[in-house]
Formats: sequence, structure tokens, C-alpha cells
Amino acid sequence: MMGEADLRSRVARLSLEQKVRLLTGADFWALYPEPDAGLRRVVLSDGPAGVRGETWDERDTSANVPSPTALAATWDCDRVEAIGRLLAAEARRKGVDVLLAPTVNLHRTPYGGRHFECFSEDPLLTARIGVAYVRGLQNQGVGATVKHFVCNDSETERMSVDVRIDERTLRELYLAPFEAIVREAGAWAVMAAYNGVNGSTMTESPLLRAILHDEWGYDGLVMSDWTATRATEPAALAALDLAMPGPAKRFGPWGDALLEAVRAGRVDEALVDDKVVRILRLAGRVGGLDDIGPSSGGPGGYGGVDPPVRGRMRGVVPPGASRAPASAAPVDIPRELRATAAASFVLARNERSLLPLDRSGLGRVALIGPNAEIARTLGGGSATVYPPYTVSPLDGLRAAGLDVAFAPGPLGHLRTAPARVPWLLRPDGSGPGADIRFFSPSGEVVGSEQRDGAVFRWMNGFAAIGAPEQIDRLEISCVIRATEAGTYQLGVTGIGRFLLLADETVVFDETLTVRDGADVGETLMAPPMRLAPLDLAAGQSVAVRLEHDVHTSPMAAFGTFFQLLLEAPHGTDDEEMEAAVALAAGSDVAVVVVGTTAEVESEGFDRASLALPGRQDELVRKVAAANPRTVVVVNSGAPVLLPWAGQVAAVLLTWFGGQEFGNALADVLLGEAEPGGRLPTTWPASEAGLPSAQPEDGVLSYTEGLFIGYRAFDRDGREPLFPFGHGRGYTTWSYDSITVDCDEAQYLPRTGGSTPPYPPDPPGGVAVCVEVRNTGTRPGREVVQVYASRPDSAVERPAKWLAGFAAVAADPGEAVTVGILLPERAFQHWAEGGWTLEAGTFTLAAGSSSASLPLTAGVTLK
Ligand code: BGC
Repeated sequence: MMGEADLRSRVARLSLEQKVRLLTGADFWALYPEPDAGLRRVVLSDGPAGVRGETWDERDTSANVPSPTALAATWDCDRVEAIGRLLAAEARRKGVDVLLAPTVNLHRTPYGGRHFECFSEDPLLTARIGVAYVRGLQNQGVGATVKHFVCNDSETERMSVDVRIDERTLRELYLAPFEAIVREAGAWAVMAAYNGVNGSTMTESPLLRAILHDEWGYDGLVMSDWTATRATEPAALAALDLAMPGPAKRFGPWGDALLEAVRAGRVDEALVDDKVVRILRLAGRVGGLDDIGPSSGGPGGYGGVDPPVRGRMRGVVPPGASRAPASAAPVDIPRELRATAAASFVLARNERSLLPLDRSGLGRVALIGPNAEIARTLGGGSATVYPPYTVSPLDGLRAAGLDVAFAPGPLGHLRTAPARVPWLLRPDGSGPGADIRFFSPSGEVVGSEQRDGAVFRWMNGFAAIGAPEQIDRLEISCVIRATEAGTYQLGVTGIGRFLLLADETVVFDETLTVRDGADVGETLMAPPMRLAPLDLAAGQSVAVRLEHDVHTSPMAAFGTFFQLLLEAPHGTDDEEMEAAVALAAGSDVAVVVVGTTAEVESEGFDRASLALPGRQDELVRKVAAANPRTVVVVNSGAPVLLPWAGQVAAVLLTWFGGQEFGNALADVLLGEAEPGGRLPTTWPASEAGLPSAQPEDGVLSYTEGLFIGYRAFDRDGREPLFPFGHGRGYTTWSYDSITVDCDEAQYLPRTGGSTPPYPPDPPGGVAVCVEVRNTGTRPGREVVQVYASRPDSAVERPAKWLAGFAAVAADPGEAVTVGILLPERAFQHWAEGGWTLEAGTFTLAAGSSSASLPLTAGVTLK
């Protein structure tokens, strides 16, 4: 295990040049190796919903876990910790040392484009789920990067926006999850955000040193978000340790400029040393430091120890980690992802107990909606991974043996999907996919790839083929084969010049440009599209060639990304609507899967509207009118407006459910699994009164202060559509008693997560025991929630706030008592530069959601 002295002695072996070189990434995803310090190459990778690895396409697939909103909706810390372990196993498999996750910014407003990637609107729930996630990862020796520090709660102008926020709100809401994770889980890395807070861009912010280092005693590494380091000296003087990505020559702003600043005495070398120590400490924790004894080696050598190799180092136990046991039981990934997705689904409404469906008497199921066939299993942006497969609702319901008939309804997608099976074939017809040739500036073919799909993305140069400068032109070749006669739409989405030919005839030759001021995330996830109609006979094949001039894209230094698009013939929206409604009318039950699309929920931009895209609201209304046994499944990562919710029998909110989405859906619809989720965020009934994500003159003021989510609804007396914490499950519960200052240790939760003491040292808080009874006919799991309030407070406060929770499981008729420790912090507020307790009586209310709290008790604190 490396102590401070060992790390310092490694630093002492390095020249100033070597040290400064370590402070910027070697490339897009890795740190520089430094043999003189025994440091091997350490690999970083996004992101919260899976471990991408160093390549970003279908050749290197990743387990796709449900979106972070789904993880938070489980309110189950044990389950989330298990997902952390699963991600650690994935990281190890893919040669990744540090995951760029979790994202613990808050759901300040549902407009936030990365809402799906964050856990909750509530800081305590975010903290508990975040701690579990980080423990799961780091206990296996894989680093977590808690991001984005801090107040990166929306996307508009994220590179430059200055968030103005008062100190109390910053502490009680936005910093709270970071604090819990740093202090309790001992996070190994934190990512400084793109935005600024109160006048300083975060990579230069005084908060880094004052709060992370000095107050929280953080000994981990602070890395910049990608290209967020803006200036040489201010970032060096602040507590930023690592500028990403690299190399410095391409992305700056450290490298030679920092070397120069140190030589000129503008930056103290001791600061550089401290940053290098933190880099080495992180490397040591993930097993990336070789054992070099004090007498061993000298510059350039390993002193008799074998040179580092890819993968884990021998004999290095990361501090604070229980070290990945080589014999750790293999994770059954599909099983775990399926169970987690089901545990996250929130049954928001279930009139006349339509769900679960009784398989025995079930006739034909009408499955309707565009997302039923092409489901969203993850959100867009850097969190995107390529799963090995995805189970759509259509696949899942069919695999469950149901009699399913499908109708897509009107198109919900504004953007066309990439060309895929059964239409996309390799040039030789051998299987789905395309061939790629890479041309050098002198026109020679310098490489080729054979691909299974039509999504092309290279972020770190062209892998083995060459750096961006070495490649001038790409050529994609494939065959499009028509399954039916009609008009197909063929095209491309990307930036730069594209020449598209069908059977060697030019379809178009165009340069696609991004809109002015587009964020890199938007450019990456929603670049412009160009489509052209192609009339084909049934069974007809066309040879397609797509050429792209790499350097016509202004993003070429970052990466090259584009997709070949294809839309098969379909009816008009009216025809598809009619067909769907007719199908519903003639079926036993209708399951409508509505949802958002890649152009609605993604990194890089915020949502302009919370409505479902296209004519999906109309589709639901018409289907529900045609069949009273209608279940609406909402496939979105974040709240959307459901203006028809009161008119349909059942509403199931399923988030972006990961690769096992469709199987989990079948399990829940048929009652083989319980919909275990409770809302981690309020679902509003309308857009009225929600905080805006739109900056004015470069400034985004958090003028709502402490009042986000349910705190705002309570204050304004507004009714949400579905309240925070809400979710029904398949049984019913009575809340029978609450006891304060009980011996909670006797009643530790039997299943799922809870709120352990925080801060753990010194111990504090209030123990509460709640007795509940399963009054239904099925075994079930209930999330018992405890909210605090202070009616006569001298301080402005929310009407109530979540103070703790725990999950219980019980059989029909069974009563269970669960002990919940409410952390001391839940009763404190920030005033005059410190945490303070307003002595007096707090009210505790327990129940099944923020809007259903049948039990209350008082607790007097001094
Ligand atoms: C995102 C980060 C991500 C990084 C690397 C940035 O644009 O904001 O969350 O980790 O890219 O992909």
C-alpha cells in the first residue's frame, strides 16, 4: 500500500518536464504512463449507464444498465451497489481503471437535457444512491469520478454559463451529494464542471481547494471536464490536478505553457508536486502503480521489477478498497439488469387493478407505439454505450409467449434511425453492416474496417489506422435491400462534406454544417441530417457508397462521427393512427409504449418542451377510448407531460431501462416481478412554475433557492401529476406506528437500502422505527419514507424534506418494523458559514410518498 512518503519519493524521481507532462491526458481517454514513477497508462471511460471503453462503436459492446434516474427510482442502495460492482467488472474486462461516473447534479428542472443521467431532485436520495454506486465500483478497485462539480444542472451554454447561487442553497442542495460521497465513500476522483459558479469557472474555482481539500479533507484527484480547462495559471493555482483530454499540444492549456509558468515562478513547483501526488495516488488505488522500492531502479528503469503491463498491477492493494478478489463470483449480467429495471419501474396509476395481467385468461395484446419496437434503453451524449443487444418491448412480450400484435402508430421520432437489419447488408451481401476504407491525404488506402452497423464514431484518432491528420477521406460501402416496394429515405447525419451514391449515381453531394453556437454535445448527438427518397421494388438491392472528407468537419480534431440513415416505407401518420386504434379495439388489452427520442433527451442541450414528441398524446387518447384496458408505458429518462393520465387505466413509468428493458417489462406486466420503483423526482402536471434552464446574458440565477422539486410544489400549493416518492407496487400497505428514539438496530431493513448515519463520525441523528403491514394479497416491497419539517421555524425552510428511508419486504398480512436512522445533517441548516441546528421540536412524518404521510411524531433536538 502506498503511503504519502512512497508517493512523494516517486515524485522526487521526476524532472519538472516529466511532472508537468502528467498533468494533461496523453490522449482522449488515458493518462500518460511514467515508467520513472512506476506509473502505467491509466484509462478513464464514461459513463453512468455502462462502461464504454476506449472505442465507441458496436465492435466493443458494453453492458447497458438502466439510466441513473432508474437506479435512483429503486431507492435501493444495496441494488445500486451491486450495479456498481457489475460496472467494475465491466471496467476490468474493458481495460478501464476509472469510470467517469456517477453524475450527481440535481434535477433542478425537468428541462435539463442530462436529467436522465442524474439521480434525483432530492439531495439526500442523490447522496445515498451515489454513495452506494461509488462503493460498488471502488470496493472492486475501479475508481469513480463524481461529476460535475458543481451546479452543472442544465446544458444550455454549459461551457460558459455562470450560475449565481446563494451559499445556503449551494450547501444544502447542490454540494450535499458531493460531500456525502467524498466523505462517506471516499471518492477517488471528482470532475470539475464546464460552467462557472458565482463568477469563477469551475476549473479555476476557489471552491475546489476551500471545500474539497480544506473542508472535506479530500485526498483524491480533480480532473477537468473535457476541454473545461481554460487558462494556464488560474487552473494551476486552483486545485485542478488533471486537464482532460490530451495531449496538451492539441488541447492545451497546460503542457509547455505551464512549464514556462513554473520556471518563471508564477506557479509554485510544490503545487505541481501535489497534483502529481494525487495522480499517483489515484493510479495506486486502481492498481496502476508498480512497486518500486526506495533502492530500486533509477530514472528510466524498473529496478528489477517487471515493467508494467496492461491490466492490473501485482501486489498493489488500493487504500480503502477491499481489492477485487480474483475469484469474485461472475455477475449474471442479463439477470441483474432485468431485475434492476423491474425494480425501477414506477407504477404510477393502476385503476381497477388492471395490472398485473393474468396470463391464464389473456387474449391478444395490442402493442402500440414507436418506442415499442425501437425502445430507448439509454440517454444520449457521453453516457451512450453500445450494448451487445437490446430487448425491446416487442421482443420482451413475444419472448414471454404472449399473443402480441404490433402497430407503431404515427412516427414519434423526428430524426431518422440508422440503417439496420433487415435492409442493411455488407457489399458482398454476407451479413448486416458496411465496409469502410480510409484514405491518406495522398489518396492511398491506408486502412479498412468491417462493421456490423451504420453508426460511425471515432473519438481518439482512427484507432490503429492513424491520427486525424493522417486520414483525409472515408468511404463506406454497403447494400440496401428493400423488403417491400415503396419509397425509402436514404441519407446521412453528420457534419462536413458527404457524397452519397446509389448504384454509382450521385444522390447528393453536400456539406452539412452545425447551427451557430451549438454545444459539442449537441453537435455530437444531433448533427444535421440530409435525406433523399429512393423508390425500390420489393427485393431490389442497391449498392450504396458514402464518402466523407474528414477535414471538412470543424470537429475533426475531436473526432469523426456520422451515421448512414434509412427509413423504410410506412403509411401516413393518419393511416398509422387508424391502424393502431383498430388493433387496440380488437384486442384484449392495449399496451402503448410512448417516449422520448435521442433528439429530445441528450447531453449538450436542454429540452424546449416537456410534451411527448409527435402525436403520441393523441395516440394514447384514441387507443384508451377504443379499449378501456389500456396500459401506457412511458419510456423516458425524465418527466414528460401526460395530459391523459387520468383517462387511462394504468401508467407505468419505465425510464431508459437498459438492454433488458423489454424482458423486465414483460415480467412486470405479467406480475412475475413487482414494479419496485418510487419517483426520485416530481412529475409535474404542466410546465407552469418550473425553474428555467435558460441563462440570461450568460448568467443562470438559481433564484428559486431551496425550492426545487417537491419543495417548490409544497410552497406554491401546486398539485403535481405524480408526487415525489410515489409508486404503487402490486400490494397495499398500512402504516401502523412510528416510534422516535427507538432501538433501530433491532430493526435493520430486511431488503434494499436505507440511510446509514451521516456524517458517520461523530455519530448522530435520530432513530425512528416505523411499523407497516402488507394488507394485500401478494408479497411485496415497500419504501418507507420519513420527512422532517419545522412548522415554527425562525428560518425559511421547505414545508418538508426527505430525512431518511428504508425498504421493507413482507408477505400478505405480515407486519414489519423497520428502523431508520435520520442523519444529524437532516436537521441542520447552513447559516453564517457553518452547519447549525435550530434547537426545538421537529415533526417527522412517515409514509409511502411525499404526498401520503399518515404517521407523524415530534422530536425535540438541542
Ligand atoms: C461530459 C462528461 C464526460 C466527458 C468525457 C463531457 O462532455 O460533460 O460528463 O465524462 O465529456 O466524455
